[in-house]
Amino acid sequence: MNDEDNRSRHWFGESGRGGFLHRSWMRAQGFTDEVFDGRPVIGICNTFSEFTPCNAHLRRLAESVKQGVWQAGGFPVEFPTMSLGETLLRPTAMLFRNLLSMDVEESLRGNPVDGTVLLTGCDKTTPGSIMGAASVDLPSLVVTGGPMLNGKFRGCDIGSGTAVWQFTQDVNAGRMSKQDYLAAESGMSRSNGHCMTMGTASTMACLTEAMGLSLPGSAAIPAVDSRRYATAQRAGQRIVEMVGEDLRLSRVVTEPAMRNAVVANAALGGSTNAVVHLLAIAGRVGLPLTLDDLDAISRDVPWLANLQPSGEYLMEDFYYAGGLPAVLAELTDLLDERAVTVTGHGLVEAASGGERVPGTEVIHPRAEPLGLGAGTAVLHGNLAPNGAVVKQSAVSPALANHRGRALVFDSIEEYDAVVDDPELDVDADTVLVLRNSGPRGYPGMPEVGNLTIPRKLAERGVDDMVRISDARMSGTAYGTVILHVCPESAVGGPLALVRTGDRIELDVASRRLHLDVPDEELARRRSEWRPTTRQEERGWVKLYTEHVLQADQGCDLDFLVGSSGPTVARQSH
Ligand code: FES
Ligand code: MG
Repeated sequence: MNDEDNRSRHWFGESGRGGFLHRSWMRAQGFTDEVFDGRPVIGICNTFSEFTPCNAHLRRLAESVKQGVWQAGGFPVEFPTMSLGETLLRPTAMLFRNLLSMDVEESLRGNPVDGTVLLTGCDKTTPGSIMGAASVDLPSLVVTGGPMLNGKFRGCDIGSGTAVWQFTQDVNAGRMSKQDYLAAESGMSRSNGHCMTMGTASTMACLTEAMGLSLPGSAAIPAVDSRRYATAQRAGQRIVEMVGEDLRLSRVVTEPAMRNAVVANAALGGSTNAVVHLLAIAGRVGLPLTLDDLDAISRDVPWLANLQPSGEYLMEDFYYAGGLPAVLAELTDLLDERAVTVTGHGLVEAASGGERVPGTEVIHPRAEPLGLGAGTAVLHGNLAPNGAVVKQSAVSPALANHRGRALVFDSIEEYDAVVDDPELDVDADTVLVLRNSGPRGYPGMPEVGNLTIPRKLAERGVDDMVRISDARMSGTAYGTVILHVCPESAVGGPLALVRTGDRIELDVASRRLHLDVPDEELARRRSEWRPTTRQEERGWVKLYTEHVLQADQGCDLDFLVGSSGPTVARQSH
């Protein structure tokens, strides 16, 4: 395993002053000579933060990874990276995903790392870490922190995020008391881990496994289950072998691997956010994945995982029912056999070992799917020339083909100011339109697309409406919500031209999103349109707004697309 070719030898294997410098300061941590004998140095890239509650247990998990690395004869070195928590970080964690990726990329490249284990959990930390590692292309293995245990309230299971949307609506409609609302708050998040619905964190954990970047069977293990710690230890052992095999990220994350991830997303009823993240990861490894590819791959995939927000159950149930391998085992004919996982074996081989636990409703058999082609659909039309997405499993059947009058808002604050107004000119057929919420316009493309149902309609029992925006929505949210309209309004996309009173037509089955306004009138409005977004003067937000790509290209920064490899041309100092 010890290899003079290991990258870290260019630091620790040096003689003279350089080697003295590189080793001497590391010795300050109490390491013995053996760590410098040429064994693989494994960088454990940790997105731990107490401001990211979903990742707050990752330091303990890192200890398990280290045990595995030591067992296999490697030298584990843990380091922190930027951490992004969905719930606290303002204005939106998505504004910083690419910054996290830059942190990971430069930390890996600049340090004596031969292989890396990425510790992730909350939504953006998984794709952001993978994007950074992809641009360095060392042997890489992802260990996610695992979902929380099921939330509990009054003897019922309640799901992260999904229960918040639901209960907030119930309070607004007078169906739930404020006291109960507070009680639910403390019962929902009752253990370490990320959201235990099939929100973005669970989706990205599962897609990372489907892509081959984490150990088979690991995504769904609850954060507090001892098997999560055992799998982390295994990962530590395995990454050392991967360095010996030179099994780099680019050998795992290939076009077949991406296809498999998209199939998995459709079968899981996964988050719409996965679309943006997969496109960004594909960009880093140089794969020409498009929105239309995602739609085409998802089309005939049966929806099998009965998980909130689209279904009923939670991640703990999912794990006990067989987890992702049990879903993939039902779909082996739809998976691309060429994909290789971090184990060195094929994904299909790993999937064949999966098994549905009989007698549960959580994972449906192939013959009895919850739906067909229920994955994320890509819509086109004069309102979204470059595409928009909708999570079909979350659409109300009665609204899937709909024509309605637009009610337009220029900001989420403008909407929130009137949502409770009994005089608001809205009915159940109205199409709510929100703009200036895209990557550049907000900036950061926040999760505000699932606009709360106006109070006066909620009180009458209306629980879904067609909503259209250039924003994203939380993976834990649901409804007939059209997202990621592209190009966004802030760069002059047609969303900027819609006016209250216009008619909008949606037909999910034919993938159509149409603004029923004559072309000449749209041309006239366009000639009058002026950008309203503020130019940022300094700092990250300036860099971000000047370089962020649109949602159909994954919202990466234009200059981050691709890889620079692991080589650093010059010595330190
Ligand atoms: Fe972190 Fe949902 S808030 S995963
Ligand atoms: Mg989120």
